[in-house]
Amino acid sequence: MASSFDFTGKNVFVAGGTSGINLGIAHAFARAGATVSVASRSPEKVTAAVEALQAHGGKVVGHALDVREYAAVEQAFKATQATFGSIDVLISGAAGNFPAPALGISPNGFKSVVDIDLMGTFHVLRAAFPYLTKPGACLVNISAPQAFLPMEFQMHVCAAKAGVDMITRVAALEWGPAGVRVNSVVPGPIDNTEGMRRLAPTPAANQLAIDSVPLKTLGTVDNIADACLWLASPMASYVSGVILPVDGGWSLGGASSLGRGLAELMSGKK
Ligand code: COA
Ligand code: NAP
Repeated sequence: MASSFDFTGKNVFVAGGTSGINLGIAHAFARAGATVSVASRSPEKVTAAVEALQAHGGKVVGHALDVREYAAVEQAFKATQATFGSIDVLISGAAGNFPAPALGISPNGFKSVVDIDLMGTFHVLRAAFPYLTKPGACLVNISAPQAFLPMEFQMHVCAAKAGVDMITRVAALEWGPAGVRVNSVVPGPIDNTEGMRRLAPTPAANQLAIDSVPLKTLGTVDNIADACLWLASPMASYVSGVILPVDGGWSLGGASSLGRGLAELMSGKK
């Protein structure tokens, strides 16, 4: 359980923080005493997430927005600063995914994922910068092994997340002198998440995913939240520009083998 860190008095913003891994991260920070803001497209998901996060007893605000719209993202950070003060921790995790072979992805399908994952990450980081605590802010981009391992049926996600990790590295270089740390966390296959429901929709595909991880188990949302708490804590105060897999060793190659297995399953060869 992710709770041995104290973020009392800290202001945390989670873009895409209304479900799955990102909501789990928001819960971990709220549980650790932080004031939390979450943002995503669906007003219903935003309302439900805010209500759930308030159960930890702290202040929580939600924003219904699309990270593809820069002005809306900028407005949310402006409002956050007006309400809670400067932002100490920013998690950027909004993303879209569907499994499809390159020839089954339309130009608009490819663009949609790039616009959400890559442009969205740029929008979130760029718009947040004026409102960050300087020095001291910690930024975490939620990446994926597809950023550095080619994976069949994931050309759009591989391209977008590779860009996300480069945003992490360049921002760490440019914003380090202002005392802002920037890192990526790379989740492995995380149990009971939308990402895994899409990538491994059948029991057979789910078993393929488990078999492809060196530790032979799927990860948990708390595994990822714990890494974010650590990165944002004083214990990681000299860590910046890092691409940190939290994946049971999946990024040593298993993610690619899952892609191959899924391609065979989906094309009926297995
Ligand atoms: N296979 C191939 N193409 C697909 C697809 C699939 N399974 N699902 C969507 N697309 C295509 C659509 O056909 C459309 O292209 P077209 O206009 O040429 O037909 C394009 O993607 C955009 O679809 P749309 O539904 O209009 O986009 P959106 O902006 O509303 O949603 C998605 C973006 C497609 C990424 C959607 O799946 C989403 O909102 N995902 C968020 C949740 C998620 O993916 N969670 C897991 C995170 S890892
Ligand atoms: P998820 O539950 O679908 O989370 C995605 C979140 O982003 C949702 O809150 C969604 O809410 C929001 N979102 C999507 N498009 C958006 C947009 N255009 N603007 C604003 N918000 C948007 O999926 P998940 O599986 O937990 O994935 C979370 C993150 O982990 C993603 O970055 C993903 O790439 C990464 N990851 C996941 C896994 C895994 O095993 N699940 C593995 C590796 C990496 P709305 O629908 O309301 O917009």
